[in-house]
Amino acid sequence: MATGLIRRAISRVQSSAPAARLLVARAHASDSQAQQVESKPNLKSFQIYRWTPDNPGKPELKEYKIDLKECGPMVLDALIKIKNEIDPTLTFRRSCREGICGSCAMNIDGCNGLACLTKISSDSESTITPLPHMFVIKDLVVDMTNFYNQYKSIEPWLKRKTPAPTPGKEIPQSKSDRAKLDGMYECILCACCSTSCPSYWWNPESYLGPAALLHANRWIMDSRDEFTQERLDAVNDEFKLYRCHTILNCSRACPKGLNPGKHIQNIKKLEMAP
Ligand code: SF4
Ligand code: SF4
Ligand code: FES
Repeated sequence: MATGLIRRAISRVQSSAPAARLLVARAHASDSQAQQVESKPNLKSFQIYRWTPDNPGKPELKEYKIDLKECGPMVLDALIKIKNEIDPTLTFRRSCREGICGSCAMNIDGCNGLACLTKISSDSESTITPLPHMFVIKDLVVDMTNFYNQYKSIEPWLKRKTPAPTPGKEIPQSKSDRAKLDGMYECILCACCSTSCPSYWWNPESYLGPAALLHANRWIMDSRDEFTQERLDAVNDEFKLYRCHTILNCSRACPKGLNPGKHIQNIKKLEMAP
């Protein structure tokens, strides 16, 4: 009985041997196909805005192709790879590479964003241009002077009329007052919002724009600040504040998930308060 069972088992193994050999052969074939796919480069084309004051002709989009298999996942990784390995003249700002410094803001496939926080898309081509409606210094580097001057104009520091409760010490604030600053203090001044705002495009010098107004509101709402009314008076202007038409492009553009449009609305509401 036992011998019969062993014989049947051997014969099943023998009869399945060709099928097993076929399976092994197929496995080898798919292994080598997989190896071929693995070794094939995954090329992606980047069309990048180029302009230099050394050759002040028309700007152009220059194409660079890179193998995504040899590149990090973010647009900033691609730019650094292009600069390091293909074209050292490509110019862009970057520092922290983790969405903190705000310096790598640019327009990626039609949307403003931070290159270090934007994943390389799976499309075969991407277009990268400077922040829109800004003067270009070189390639992807724009002139932020006007933007910073507008930020400076809202006096972004604590202003007091009375001395601190304990001289030389911090001014205390309740937890609920501190919470009123959430959604504003996180701004990294990247300018993605202001440069996506149509009102800012048309009036960049007279309209403060969403970033500066968000910071104006940040100090207006700070319980420790004693210049609230003066701050409200300073921005209560047809151009500085009321060029905002609540289109909310700014809130869609913010890479930190902030909502400048909401804070501009808050200033307008306070201006109306009796
Ligand atoms: S709400 Fe619209 S108009 Fe107002 S700042 Fe934002 S994008 Fe500009
Ligand atoms: S609000 Fe957002 S988009 Fe605007 S400057 Fe601040 S971080 Fe950038
Ligand atoms: S490199 Fe600092 S925010 Fe992108």
